Amino acid sequence: MNNKNKKYVFVQTFGCQMNEHDSQRMVELLRPLGYEAVSEPELASLILVNTCSVRAKSQDKVLSALGRFRPLKQRREDLILGVAGCVAEQEGRRLLEAVPHLDLVLGPDHIAELPELVDEVRARGRLTRTGFAEVDDYAFLRASPEPSGAGATALVTIQKGCDNHCACCIVPHVRGPEVSRRAEEILAEVDTLTAAGAREVTLIGQNVNSYRGYHGKQDDFVALLSEVCARPGLLRVRFTTSHPKDFSRALARSFGELATLCPWLHLPVQSGSSSVLARMRRGYARERYLEAVAWAREACPELAIGTDLIVGFPGESEAEFEETLSLCEQVRFAYSYSFKYSSRPGTPAAALADDVPPETKARRLHELQALQNRITREQLARLVGRELEVLVEGPSRRGGAQLCGRAPGNQVVNFTGEGIRTGERVIVRIEAAGGHSLSGAVARC
Ligand code: SAH
Ligand code: SF4
Ligand code: F3S
Repeated sequence: MNNKNKKYVFVQTFGCQMNEHDSQRMVELLRPLGYEAVSEPELASLILVNTCSVRAKSQDKVLSALGRFRPLKQRREDLILGVAGCVAEQEGRRLLEAVPHLDLVLGPDHIAELPELVDEVRARGRLTRTGFAEVDDYAFLRASPEPSGAGATALVTIQKGCDNHCACCIVPHVRGPEVSRRAEEILAEVDTLTAAGAREVTLIGQNVNSYRGYHGKQDDFVALLSEVCARPGLLRVRFTTSHPKDFSRALARSFGELATLCPWLHLPVQSGSSSVLARMRRGYARERYLEAVAWAREACPELAIGTDLIVGFPGESEAEFEETLSLCEQVRFAYSYSFKYSSRPGTPAAALADDVPPETKARRLHELQALQNRITREQLARLVGRELEVLVEGPSRRGGAQLCGRAPGNQVVNFTGEGIRTGERVIVRIEAAGGHSLSGAVARC
């Protein structure tokens, strides 16, 4: 596989879909320079770590990843080691000072410059490029997949940054102000991806509900979504992340109206307690969240709803935490991602005392996760015996001859079947449900 004329890049990605998307674009930008992506860092002459700083733990992972690459750097003189993403933006030059074997620090708004910056590092040595682009002339990175190289599912950015400033969150500090991408550009990218084999697209942004790139008006996202859903060649559309305060009744109705829109909604609630939500500056109360869920389920009773939750936000009492448990019981989320509150530099909540003791945070997280695991199992078990439409994403991680794909509600399905290719849509009869996934066999194609 290793060829003397080829150059190899290894990209390690932490964090959310934005980073996953940006890592794919980085690889594409490096292709004209002769780089090919590899999964073994030992082969690479360029290593990029695309980082997340949403919690202290996410940031700590960056230093351990960089430590892991130090021996490679010592062995190979021509190896360039770079940090991209949110920790790069947050730390900037300080990262170069703290990590002597690091060559490049690249903020998220400078990814397009990556090819020149790699050359510049080779010619002149270590450098940092951070800071935000002007909102008016922000240029979104365009996907340029190889022919048939898009994979069955693809991410499409519709918005960058965030203007919400939830009290605990560092994202607006490291991703800058919210900018909506022009609708024509998005539709053209969807067409490029379907031409390269994608059958499903997920529209991504930190708060897609406040998208304003169509007519510059409220509910632009609803209009964009119906245009995307009507694009030829596309079987499925998803979007993430939705913010409850901007989740409109019109958007809820889309779930009942758009045939290609999947019955899946990621709607982070963070807490079930209105007083905690107010301290978090989320802009909605428990009742408003429940109303959004009711609208969405009215339009689409099958809808699988997932969420994000934080335990131990400053001042969270036992009674407030119990409201989160009761909300989870009430909504019966298909899944949830839950985290212990982590104080982040420069955020409004960093000025509050981080006063929930670590052992209380750990116990609350454990309780919440135990509850969610039970609900998830029950929800998955209800699908046993059903025939679900699955979009094939590739071989299963379980190995053997099994394939893997997702049901419309985003549940992972491992299954057996003969002569089936990635990107095909098949009907799978569900035979068993586990803690986080389903399994079965192809009933028909
Ligand atoms: N834009 C999305 C979330 C992006 S960050 C939204 O508004 O819902 C992903 C998740 O990280 C958040 O939903 C939240 O649950 C979590 N998170 C953000 N800041 C955090 C912090 N300081 N400590 C712990 N978790 C945090
Ligand atoms: Fe962070 Fe809030 Fe923006 Fe989500 S909406 S990215 S939690 S500031
Ligand atoms: Fe993390 Fe940055 Fe995403 S902080 S959650 S990678 S926007």
